[in-house]
Amino acid sequence: MKIALITGASSGLGRDYALAADRDGIYDEIWVVARRRERLQELELDCRTPVRPFALDLTERSAIAVLYGALEAADCEVGMLVNAAGFAKFGNCDDMTLEEVDSMIELNCRALVDLTQVCLKRMGRGGRIIQVASSASFIPMPGLNVYAASKAFVRSYTRALRFELRGRGIRTTAVCPVWIKTEFVQVARDTANGQTVKHTWPQLSSKHVVRWSRLINRINYPIATCCITGALMRIVSKVIPDSLMMWIWEGLRRI
Ligand SMILES: NC(=O)c1ccc[n+]([C@@H]2O[C@H](COP(=O)([O-])OP(=O)(O)OC[C@H]3O[C@@H](n4cnc5c(N)ncnc54)[C@H](OP(=O)(O)O)[C@@H]3O)[C@@H](O)[C@H]2O)c1
Repeated sequence: MKIALITGASSGLGRDYALAADRDGIYDEIWVVARRRERLQELELDCRTPVRPFALDLTERSAIAVLYGALEAADCEVGMLVNAAGFAKFGNCDDMTLEEVDSMIELNCRALVDLTQVCLKRMGRGGRIIQVASSASFIPMPGLNVYAASKAFVRSYTRALRFELRGRGIRTTAVCPVWIKTEFVQVARDTANGQTVKHTWPQLSSKHVVRWSRLINRINYPIATCCITGALMRIVSKVIPDSLMMWIWEGLRRI
């Protein structure tokens, strides 16, 4: 049995990756992971491929054990892994609770790495790994500090992973888009100082990001920015020092 495993599938990008995997028509099952079970169950109705929902909080280490156990029990091949679960909280260091910063790191970094490790053992030639990072990974971002750092981790981790996997026929891509119209900003603003980042534009559609990132992964390119703004951010961040980029961001986030 060949499966696609997608985290964060209860909304936004994860949900659209699941629908796209369904359209691929090559997976025997799509395993979807998020905390809101009812949203995952709605996906079952929207897909022709059988969907197996896992209502799990990925910030808890036991969630990985549950997924590992299910993979072992099913003895299946993982054809595609998409790590889309993630969240941000806007605010400076004084605004953030320990719980907020810890769970951002747990979900955006630790759970992503753990699940990749677990799935790689069951992935053969032709396998695909899509790790959702962010254009926030390109520069240090005051007011979005821990989130941007967590996504820099994802991008760096994914690039080196891709290098390690060369010759194994596994396509690995880090997705680094700008703002997207999902529940993300609403979650990010729900904190002590949610207006720390005032503007969230331009906003891409989730379907556009999924379409482009899947295409970029199909041609086995390491980074998918999915739009001109993201591509420019990537290039500019390579030539302008971080100290200057942070001042530019500091101005932009107040507009
Ligand atoms: N939207 C943007 O502007 C933007 C830009 C660049 C990158 N990204 C990245 O894109 C990815 C997808 O975000 P999105 O835009 O689609 O936002 P979203 O609509 O808020 O989706 C986030 C997903 O993560 C899941 N999730 C959150 N906490 C979780 C937890 N503790 N355990 C398991 N699942 C959890 C949510 O499901 P439950 O709440 O049901 O658990 C939801 O399915 C994230 O990694 C985000 O960092 C977003």
